[in-house]
Amino acid sequence: MEWTKKYRPKKLDEVVGQKTVKDFEKWYEEWKPKKKAALIWGGPGVGKTAVVYALANEKNLELIELNASDMRNASGIEEIVGNSSKQMSLFKRGKIILIDEVDGISGASDRGGVGALTKIIKESRFPIVLTANDAYNPKLKTLRNYCELIKFTGVYLRSIIARLREICKSEGIECDEKVLDIIGRQSGGDLRSAINDLEAIARGRKKITEEDLKALGYREKKQDIFEILKVIFKTRNIRNSIEILRNSDKDPDEIFWWIEENIPNEYEDMREVAKAYDYLSIADLFRNWVRIRQNWRFKKYMIDIMCGGVSISKKEMYRKFTHYRPPNRIKMYGTTKLSRKQVGEICERMSEKLHVSSQIIMREYFPLMKILFKRDEWKKNIIEEFELSKEDLKMIKEL
Ligand SMILES: Nc1ncnc2c1ncn2[C@@H]1O[C@H](COP(=O)(O)OP(=O)(O)OP(=O)(O)O)[C@@H](O)[C@H]1O
Ligand SMILES: [Mg+2]
Repeated sequence: MEWTKKYRPKKLDEVVGQKTVKDFEKWYEEWKPKKKAALIWGGPGVGKTAVVYALANEKNLELIELNASDMRNASGIEEIVGNSSKQMSLFKRGKIILIDEVDGISGASDRGGVGALTKIIKESRFPIVLTANDAYNPKLKTLRNYCELIKFTGVYLRSIIARLREICKSEGIECDEKVLDIIGRQSGGDLRSAINDLEAIARGRKKITEEDLKALGYREKKQDIFEILKVIFKTRNIRNSIEILRNSDKDPDEIFWWIEENIPNEYEDMREVAKAYDYLSIADLFRNWVRIRQNWRFKKYMIDIMCGGVSISKKEMYRKFTHYRPPNRIKMYGTTKLSRKQVGEICERMSEKLHVSSQIIMREYFPLMKILFKRDEWKKNIIEEFELSKEDLKMIKEL
């Protein structure tokens, strides 16, 4: 089991570093029909979803999760939020309804979007919790009136380190304090990414030293990389996009991998994602030519295309906060031995549906799937389409 799941808080007081957990509990205790929903908001990996699970677990509630696409099916939802008294007698346990990541929901112009959600909040007989990265997203403007806002901050470094230390202890791993400190700093308050990093680094080790970190190419966060990415991803002005990298002392090769990692974190429209990767693949050709022919003129083209091309791949700027993640190259080193048989089985199943050879699936589909897995709705579709089990998923991720 992934460590973030294994160490998911089971009780409210296991959610660390968030002062507003108390407000959330109070909101729940005082909730009555027609009262406001709770909107927990904050950066990624800080415990928003986890706190709802912890509450449900601690109070023995049935947790019902709805996602944005469910909003289109209003009648189904009515059943869940329970307007019939029948339901109450059927379930003695209380219920709590979680609608995770509401910023992903489509706007008021869409009949099934925010409008439907406000109606549900007004009529629900059970408390509803929403989560979002940014409560002040214009899309959520009306919705905010029906919610009590609960803000989650980035988890303090101290709390992150303490949590990592606990995990090491219970996994029987000996880890240098300095290592925990570096991982904690790198996470920028995102406890999930800190736990994931620790897990990747600890794979196959019982002892982790600073040397191990270095061997894995794990570097401390460089703040200005985030600034560069922000410009490339947010602007549509080609010149600005190119200049930001040209004027920095950052290695374009390194930025290349950061862009590659983060395209699907920033862009939401599939076509934009595809376009951005198209540009990146052209930039990649130039990148190789620089290396093979030692011709530095190509470096200029590489930068122009990877910055400018990616910038103009979107129709308009996404007004949201994106937590840019470092390129995930640590995992490549930690890859566990895979069973050929299992991979073969997944390929076979997919090749029947797709009418392409297993080889093509290995070479072209798996890498693409790994990128698509970054967005939950795409992931869900793929899992359903190819009937992938948890093990299959893990295997593909590790390939
Ligand atoms: N404050 C916290 N206390 C304890 N564990 C945490 C906390 N924040 C994150 N975690 C760990 O990270 C995992 C992921 O956190 P969670 O799913 O709550 O993030 P989130 O805030 O909902 O992020 P996102 O915006 O990406 O959905 C949890 O399962 C848990 O292991
Ligand atoms: Mg969440």
